Amino acid sequence: MAKINSYIKVNKKKFKIQVQKKDINLKKKNCILYNKYGSNLLKKIDWNKKGYSIENIFTLPEHLNNQKKISNCVKKILKIKNRNFSIENYHYCVNDADHLRTIQKTRELKIDVFQSIKDKIYSYLNDKYKISFKKNKMIKKEIALLRIHRPKKNDLNPPHRDGYLRCWSKSLNIWYMISGSFKNSALPIIPKSHLVNEKFIQVTRSNSKMNGTKYTVPIILRINNKNMSFKIPKIKPGQVLIFSPFLIHGFGKNFSANKTRSSLEFRPEINE
Ligand SMILES: [Fe+2]
Repeated sequence: MAKINSYIKVNKKKFKIQVQKKDINLKKKNCILYNKYGSNLLKKIDWNKKGYSIENIFTLPEHLNNQKKISNCVKKILKIKNRNFSIENYHYCVNDADHLRTIQKTRELKIDVFQSIKDKIYSYLNDKYKISFKKNKMIKKEIALLRIHRPKKNDLNPPHRDGYLRCWSKSLNIWYMISGSFKNSALPIIPKSHLVNEKFIQVTRSNSKMNGTKYTVPIILRINNKNMSFKIPKIKPGQVLIFSPFLIHGFGKNFSANKTRSSLEFRPEINE
């Protein structure tokens, strides 16, 4: 079967992305999807052109407390008895099969597990940007995702835009890093990429495979016929990355040698 390769640059390293030629989406529109389908409230915000912002939401003690909560939640899932278990050391406690089982559960945690974390983030955004959120009618239940990426493993997802899935187009992406190496392992993003016209983007259809693994969200291969270069934003413990669902992000390889990266993701719909 014919394949298409592209390369992306992240953390000064080059990675190959391979998809099947038959999966490439050839019916692309000549428009900027963010302008057409994105939230009008986000368009009025001061970081609109950049497509993302880093917010100081939790103090260091609050952050460490959040980390403890998450560690306890994962400890329960893994049925670990060690009282000192920390999410940063998760990779020492699981094999590949355990990990797959765990991420099935952490992908769709009930929101009440993280209610206090969520409340603080939402009320901060409401105070600062006058943004509030409403129920997303296109999804069955509100979810909080806990992403877990082990070091030295290919725990990653493809370069993508959540906004390609219509249910997320009016939402705000909220990404809160819980553990890992804050120097080099935050979520890779391409600043301003939410404003790139579709005609310049080479992308697959939904449910295509990247390097042999199938993903729901369409996989982005190139912009303007060029390989993509990602930026890893500098995030400190307690800070939260917020961004447009049309900003290209992903391929979040964990570059740390010995720390599991975990992050909480919320994707609430903006109340307009
Ligand atoms: Fe995403």
